[in-house]
Amino acid sequence: MCGIVGYVGERSAEDVVIGGLRRMEYRGYDSAGIALVLDGKIVSAKKAGKLTNLDAELAAHPLPQANTGIGHTRWATHGAPNDRNAHPHLDQTGQVAVVHNGIIENFAKLRTELEGLGYEMVSETDTEIVAHLLQEALKSTDDLSDAVRAVCRRLEGAFTLVFCDARHPDVVVGARRNSPLVVGRGEGENFLGSDVAAFIEYTREAIELGQDQVVTITPNDIVVTDFNGNPAETKDYHVDWDVSAAEKGGFDWFMLKEIDEQPRAVADTLLGRHSVDGRLQLDEMRLSDDELREVDKIIVIACGTSFYAAMVAKYAIEHWTRIPCEVELASEFRYRDPILDKSTLVVTISQSGETMDTIMAIRYARQQRARVLSICNTNGSTIPRESDAVLYTHAGPEIAVASTKGFLSQIVACYLLALYVAQVKGTKYGDEIASILAEIQKLPAGIQRMLDEGDQVRKLATELAGSRSILFLGRHVGYPVALEGALKLKELAYIHAEGFAAGELKHGPIALVEEGLPVFVVVPPKGRDQLQEKTVSSIQEIRARGARTIVLAEDGDEDVVPYADHLIRLPKVPTLLQPLVATVPLQIFACEFANQLGHDIDQPRNLAKSVTVE
Ligand code: F6R
Repeated sequence: MCGIVGYVGERSAEDVVIGGLRRMEYRGYDSAGIALVLDGKIVSAKKAGKLTNLDAELAAHPLPQANTGIGHTRWATHGAPNDRNAHPHLDQTGQVAVVHNGIIENFAKLRTELEGLGYEMVSETDTEIVAHLLQEALKSTDDLSDAVRAVCRRLEGAFTLVFCDARHPDVVVGARRNSPLVVGRGEGENFLGSDVAAFIEYTREAIELGQDQVVTITPNDIVVTDFNGNPAETKDYHVDWDVSAAEKGGFDWFMLKEIDEQPRAVADTLLGRHSVDGRLQLDEMRLSDDELREVDKIIVIACGTSFYAAMVAKYAIEHWTRIPCEVELASEFRYRDPILDKSTLVVTISQSGETMDTIMAIRYARQQRARVLSICNTNGSTIPRESDAVLYTHAGPEIAVASTKGFLSQIVACYLLALYVAQVKGTKYGDEIASILAEIQKLPAGIQRMLDEGDQVRKLATELAGSRSILFLGRHVGYPVALEGALKLKELAYIHAEGFAAGELKHGPIALVEEGLPVFVVVPPKGRDQLQEKTVSSIQEIRARGARTIVLAEDGDEDVVPYADHLIRLPKVPTLLQPLVATVPLQIFACEFANQLGHDIDQPRNLAKSVTVE
């Protein structure tokens, strides 16, 4: 939530900052703003709404050329999304500017204190008080970094703050607690960003900042301290994707590009993780086999789409490892007094690595002495840093707000983990693991087929674009797929969409079925468990009540044919792998449906990509 950029160097700061904001707009798009330092002055511009509004403002009223600047794209927390509440915020002297991501929890108290000192607030944000606190702090020191540290010591809550000061034309100072901030190391220039997308066009060398750290960048130097000014340890890393990954590459929307990238995202997540003899190798995970052997309970925690990946994972984890597995929403987890100890493995799943609900769940789990392993797509982000172990998905940057390739690669990573635990615990023999892995290896081709057959789904979306309500049904791992299909449609099309376990239909939801209601049904592969037959019965029941059935069933399943108004064929895969092919048409459907309604597919209303507040 909120994207932040800072730059010092020789380039046009405006170009660098606006370019960075453009690549980070997915983090929030309620307003955008920029501040530049030149000739002992701060000049700034800010506008409510998407970045294009700021572009228009800058075209109408150009800012002078400068080499130091900061910028912000906002997801509103305190205060309405208007020009006044847009960042940057300046102090009363107009000498310092600040941008902020997060929530300052003791803001009301600090605001009252500042008002008592005669400060008048011009916005409703919690950020403005930081500018005034800095003005106060600069009364006792000329050193901007010292003043920033003094301010940070007074703040509670979550914040990334980035400052520039008219009196220090070559300096940008950043600070972080519980919100993301990374440093980009250039030559004769340095960068700050909420994530590496902010500066990927200029450098792939990055530095992770730790909790409660302040960083001061000048063109030739980067200095990191804690909030008391003591030198702090940081970690350098190389970003393994380049600027083309953060651009649309000929697609109309990032989301379409990311859906299309799914075969590669899955293949890359598998890459190098198993040897020729079929044994899994997850050496990078930082958890020893002895530690894994001690595990007697697994709890998987996540939010939103990542939570649905967790739901899918539960089936595989229990089936392959025989270890009891619970799945929990991160936002609920620590409030129910869960039973954890050192033999509990808490697995968190997060694409961004910055979801605050998940971070708080990790902290809670570790306090209770559980081991935490995170499945994450973002190198250097808070969640892997705060976990005992990490397994990265290699989906590449996900920029569209609605998650797609993140979801598929998370399921694959969970499966690799489950198979690895089964290998270590001996609950599956090597040849069984090798044969499951061989099936997983075929998935990129199956996903590609679903992409190639996307036109029929787009045509269906065009036909159904007038619907105000759509249901999704599934059983077993098809149930989370149904939930994910419904979530994608809610997010993008803003219509009523709900996913149900098909077996629950008769216990209530069937009352929703009326003439013409579109209902997607994910049919499990035929097997010994009768789930396919039971799902076919559900299709008959809803169709008898007038539903328009859209059936997703594997090749060769002829039982569904008489009851399917639309039939989407899936490649034959083992049941546990079906979500990886069945989700793809649902993603395509949601995109096209929203497109027909004229919605912004990459930036749906009210949402932000990284939910960095609780
Ligand atoms: C839905 C979506 C969200 C995220 C959720 C968790 O399309 O993107 O529901 O899945 O906010 O985000 P991460 O995975 O970054 O923790």
